[in-house]
Amino acid sequence: RLRWDQEKRKQIMALWGGRFSQTPADAVFALSRSVHFDWRLAPYDLRSSLAHLAVLQSSGLLEDSVANPIRNALNELITEVASGAFVAIDTDEDVHSALERGLTEKLGAIGGSLRAGRSRNDQVATDLRLYAIDHMIEVAQQVLALQSALIAKATEYGDAPAPGFTHLQHAQPVLFGHEIAKHVQGFSRDLDRIHDWLDRALVSPLGSGALAGSSLPLSPEVTAANLGFTSSAANSIDGVSDRDFVAEALFILSMVGIHLSRIGEEWCIWATTEFGWAKVADAYSTGSSIMPQKKNPDMAELARGKAGRLVGNLTGVLTMLKGLPFAYNRDLQEDKEPLFDSIDTVLLVLPAVTGMVATTDFDREKLALAAPLGFSLATEIADYLVRAKVPFAHAHEAAGKCVALCESTGRQLHQLTDDEFVSIHPSLKSDVRDVLTVQGALESRTTVGGTSPSSFKAQIKEATAITAAYSKEFTDKAKAFSEMMGA
Ligand code: ARG
Repeated sequence: RLRWDQEKRKQIMALWGGRFSQTPADAVFALSRSVHFDWRLAPYDLRSSLAHLAVLQSSGLLEDSVANPIRNALNELITEVASGAFVAIDTDEDVHSALERGLTEKLGAIGGSLRAGRSRNDQVATDLRLYAIDHMIEVAQQVLALQSALIAKATEYGDAPAPGFTHLQHAQPVLFGHEIAKHVQGFSRDLDRIHDWLDRALVSPLGSGALAGSSLPLSPEVTAANLGFTSSAANSIDGVSDRDFVAEALFILSMVGIHLSRIGEEWCIWATTEFGWAKVADAYSTGSSIMPQKKNPDMAELARGKAGRLVGNLTGVLTMLKGLPFAYNRDLQEDKEPLFDSIDTVLLVLPAVTGMVATTDFDREKLALAAPLGFSLATEIADYLVRAKVPFAHAHEAAGKCVALCESTGRQLHQLTDDEFVSIHPSLKSDVRDVLTVQGALESRTTVGGTSPSSFKAQIKEATAITAAYSKEFTDKAKAFSEMMGA
């Protein structure tokens, strides 16, 4: 619990105390204070202060004799914040007041000059956008690393027959590589989402002031360009209160988390003794404190479990935004922790899942043995009859009868006799057995996106090309962003 004496209470009010006759109560400051979580905005706050300073100076509002020392002090603070030499203290309300204290400690009263034409309302909205942009680019890069691991693993098992499921029941055989490669698709959509999100997020609120813009000759569009934004807010009231970019980012992060959770669930099932398909590497497993034999797929379980908090963070922010009056309201301070937490969470889970995927081995023999089980070739009989011009409804019925006969007599489909086939349907000739092989079933599914070896190869080729294009895009974006930050 923090305690503040009267001297400290006065410091707390440094940014806004002029009209107050009382200092804040402990409970007020305890609830108000955000510096313990918004401190991570410090590098972005300092960078946007440099941009704001540039327009104050170029418009002549600040003389060079004032602006230049402020620029030097801001640059010093950038270094000191990075090294930990400058940190927040218990009388700092938020990151903005902490950094203004830093400037004032260095420069005296002129340290407060940057507040001209700027409010914490447009400042915090700008800082949070920069933070989100920086980290969503990092998320994209980690998603790409996972996609590469999935593509490599899919390619490794691109010739391995396996059972495919619907309702967790054997349905039709698939290539195991096709099964792994499906995960690449959801993450490609996540990358599309981050790409689109960036277009909308790159609007600068700086210059919106408290809510109404500024009477000073600032140039929000110039500040925006300085910070790598593509435009500045078209409406200052919206500028300070728009948190769509937070909600959308939280949705994207939830989707990434949900995709990770579905990988997690699959790995958990595949690593069971009952399935026995996946051998998860020791480095990506954990043991039991009581059962010495245990090797548990905890990374897969955490990937599955963490999705819950991601959806919770999204729900929390959407609920906070619902019905919120314009322009700035302090409710908006609640946008940060969920966003930080979701970004942290996704950046924790992604490398662990990437490593788990890359180091898991699968039992080809078990997969192949399981592929034809559960009469998974019954559709082949129906398709065979369709090619013989039998209406599908009749074909389906006949194939179902074959399955029923096999079940009651303990046989597999290819073990039915010629007479039995013909008696079930006159078009079921003896060559129906040619289609009753896993390899035949796989090779026949040549539609685009199907599981045939040729379709699978085309799919991998396309996925690899998309991944390469996005890798380049997000590497370029990361480079541009870090150049902007270092400018
Ligand atoms: N810490 C605040 C936040 O995160 C900064 C903005 C405060 N603005 C205000 N008018 N009290 O939202």
